[in-house]
Amino acid sequence: MRVLVIGSGAREHAIVLALRKDPAVTAVFAAPGNAGIAQHAQVRAVEASSGEAVAALAGELGADLVVIGPEVPLVLGVADAVRAAGIACFGPSAAAARIEGSKAFAKNVMAAAGVRTAHSEVVDNPADLDAALDRFGPTWVVKDDGLAAGKGVVVTADRSAARDHGAELLEQGHPVLLESFLDGPEVSLFCLVDGETVVPLLPAQDHKRVGDGDTGPNTGGMGAYTPLPWLPQDTVRAIVDDVVQPVATELARRGSSFSGLLYAGLAIGADGPAVVEFNCRFGDPETQAVLALLDSPLSELLNATATGTLAEVEPPRWRDGAAVTVVIAAENYPSRPRVGDVITGAEDSGRNESSAVLHAGTQTRDGALVSAGGRVLSVVGVGADLAQARENAYARVARIKLAGSHYRTDIGLAAVQSRISV
Ligand code: GLY
Repeated sequence: MRVLVIGSGAREHAIVLALRKDPAVTAVFAAPGNAGIAQHAQVRAVEASSGEAVAALAGELGADLVVIGPEVPLVLGVADAVRAAGIACFGPSAAAARIEGSKAFAKNVMAAAGVRTAHSEVVDNPADLDAALDRFGPTWVVKDDGLAAGKGVVVTADRSAARDHGAELLEQGHPVLLESFLDGPEVSLFCLVDGETVVPLLPAQDHKRVGDGDTGPNTGGMGAYTPLPWLPQDTVRAIVDDVVQPVATELARRGSSFSGLLYAGLAIGADGPAVVEFNCRFGDPETQAVLALLDSPLSELLNATATGTLAEVEPPRWRDGAAVTVVIAAENYPSRPRVGDVITGAEDSGRNESSAVLHAGTQTRDGALVSAGGRVLSVVGVGADLAQARENAYARVARIKLAGSHYRTDIGLAAVQSRISV
């Protein structure tokens, strides 16, 4: 099978590495890729948000399967264009990707499907903002209704900070979603979905705030770990039965069947799981940890999802142990990351037994590896348990040098110290 992966982050690097280990895969291409991905796949330039361009590239490369990593091309209908060209595609249609592209749409689907989620209101007129804020908080959850790469969300006990964020979004012409605050530890559950068949992957936990102890602004994600030792065993089944399956069925009922990766972000509160958000693609940085433990051929799972035959393949098998992703971010991330600094110590990109360095914001300049984005690298550690996976990840992080960079030192730590309970 010849596979084309669309995207340029560490998530796509992890997908490329898993495909490279898969005996059924004869060629892996990536577009546009990055400096690390280029060591494991043939990299091509493409305008990733153009369905016409992606479909043409897939045809030119003789791809049997296209895997679309990021949400923007999915929301813009790139998967529709690839399928219209007669090529199997892992990723939902534009109609189904609205589950991530519009939070108001997602709320409407969840209400119809009877899925527990935060109470919410959409504000699209600055004159309504203050009265709406009075109906929420404390704590206030203020979100950009559209796509914002994780950075459109402010969760704060400070009403004026909540107001400032809402006013700024409205000034930019973006409707604002106010939500009641959901308490409890968060879980990211990725499910392969082909219409109505739902197959869960390992549950993971993201660390969205920039600083240790969950301090500072929200980011695209500073680290993740899997599995979750504190999560009761029957919770994944309950999330599939009570959350993901009803949403998949509701989307199918509306004529917008979901095909691809449906990512449920949940808070596990006293009354059970409640949805914080849905995403229409693999999460970043959780994917880097989840795929590190995958023991099944990835191409079979992705191709079965893309071709509507998921019910016919064996469920995914997983390696024992745990995996931890630590994101190394550029100076000033998430506000205005500095780029163009030389990176050393990341050279052995790829997986060995205990760690891997996956690239996100990198490029080569005069033969040197330099930073080219906010989240620069994802370091993945694998071990017999979470403590060992953390040790392996942080030992590898310590060998990487990038001026001004920063990373969280507490990824997975609360779980290792049994400080999370539900
Ligand atoms: N882990 C957060 C995201 O992928 O949106």
